[in-house]
This record gives sequence, C-alpha cells and structure tokens, in this order.
Amino acid sequence: MSSKSTVDEIRERFDRDVERFSNLETGQESIMDAPLSMELITQAAVTTNPKAKNLLDIGCGAGNHTLKLLPHFPMLNCDMVDLSRPMLNKAFERVTWGTTGEVNLFQEDIRTVELPENRYDIILATAVLHHLRDDQDWEKVFKKIFSLLAPGGSFWISDLVVHDDPNLHKIMWNRYGRHLIAVGGESYRDKVFKYIEVEDTPRSLSYQVNLMEKVGFKKIEILHKNCCFASFGGVK
Ligand SMILES: C[S@@+](CC[C@H](N)C(=O)[O-])C[C@H]1O[C@@H](n2cnc3c(N)ncnc32)[C@H](O)[C@@H]1O
Repeated sequence: MSSKSTVDEIRERFDRDVERFSNLETGQESIMDAPLSMELITQAAVTTNPKAKNLLDIGCGAGNHTLKLLPHFPMLNCDMVDLSRPMLNKAFERVTWGTTGEVNLFQEDIRTVELPENRYDIILATAVLHHLRDDQDWEKVFKKIFSLLAPGGSFWISDLVVHDDPNLHKIMWNRYGRHLIAVGGESYRDKVFKYIEVEDTPRSLSYQVNLMEKVGFKKIEILHKNCCFASFGGVK
C-alpha cells in the first residue's frame, strides 16, 4: 500500500489530464461501456429523485456526469469536489452553462472536505473511489456520503472493480487487457495497467455493496457490470 501514489501525486497527474475527461459522448476511453454507464447513472438518478435540487459530484473531474443530469434539472445546485484545480475550473466552465442554480467548487479530498449533512438529493462518485486505500478509508467515506444525503436521496457509483476470487480476477483482468489493446494497442494497455498499479486500489462490487448496506443504504441496485467495471447505487 505504501508504494501507491500519494494524494499530491494523484492531484498532479489529474492536473495534466483534463482533456481526457472532457468528452461527453465517449466518456473516458479506458473505461469499458463508459457511455452506457453514464446513461444508466443519469436515468437512475432522475427516476429516483425527479425533484432533485442539490447535487454533490465527488471527484467530479471535468464534470461529465453532472452535465448529463442538467438537461433534466436546469436549476440544480451543484457542489463539485475534486483534488485538481484545473479539473474544477473545466467543470465550472461547463456546468455553469447548463444550470441556473449555484455551482460551488471544493478543491479538497473527499476524506476531509466539510459539507452539510442531510443536504444532497443526488451524490455521484464516478471513477474516483478506487483511489481510497485501506478499509478504514472506505468505511469512513461511505459513512460520510450517507450522512450528506438527504433522506430519500440517492448515491451512484461507477467504477473499476476487482474480483475477490483470484482466478476470476485474472480472467477479468485479461479481458480488460484485450479491451485496452482494441482501443489503443499493446502499449496503451501497458500504460493503463501501469498507472492502475501505481495509483489505484479498487475494491470488488460485493465489498462495496456490503459496505453500503453496513452504513445504512436501502434499495441497493446494480445497474451494470461488465468485466472490471460496475455501476450501482442505493437510497438513504
Ligand atoms: C478518473 S477521474 C474521473 C472524473 C469524473 N468523475 C468522470 O467520471 O469523468 C478521477 C477524479 O477524481 C479526483 N480525485 C481522486 N482522488 C480524490 C479524492 N480523494 N478526493 C477528491 N477527488 C479525488 C481526481 O483529481 C480526478 O479528477
């Protein structure tokens, strides 16, 4: 664990990588089924909280997932949290075009940022929680997210996942490798695998669903799973 990137190293890498997270049609190309996942998360959030007023986007990047929601909620207040200032600036530029609500930026770590409890109708965490490290980190953040949600509010995750069975994990990882080769060749696969190894500590889908139950979520739903990627969520 200690050989993994620090928070500062993660921030510095994302500071240099804004454009890769700014394509609303494709999403991030290293993520399998990225456009479908964005669509499913959007539909699930809109259906669960059709009168949403307040959104929190954790690790918002350039704001893709928030942008997908805005045609449904043109007055949404959006609180955007990210380590990276260039990401937040890009998100602000894009999101303010799509809402007449307030857009607040928090350049902070989700583990330590102070936000109001019981406020948010929708919380999104896409391609970010895999940066959490040990069990304490994961549990603390899931508890925090639950406390920030308004009663009846929903939390949606879309992320890289591992598999607890090592043999299954190997199968899925090989499949993911083939996907990356199809996108950008073997060198692209090697590059993505390298930064996952240095930077990421993903958990399995079952680990995260169990943790959601443990901290109090109800009506947990798996929206999609393909290989090493899953989209899922629950209601407070
Ligand atoms: C892979 S990008 C995903 C961006 C966006 N959610 C999307 O799906 O397009 C991950 C983002 O999370 C941010 N991030 C990573 N760890 C974080 C943390 N502990 N707290 C807040 N943001 C974090 C990074 O700076 C980066 O912008």
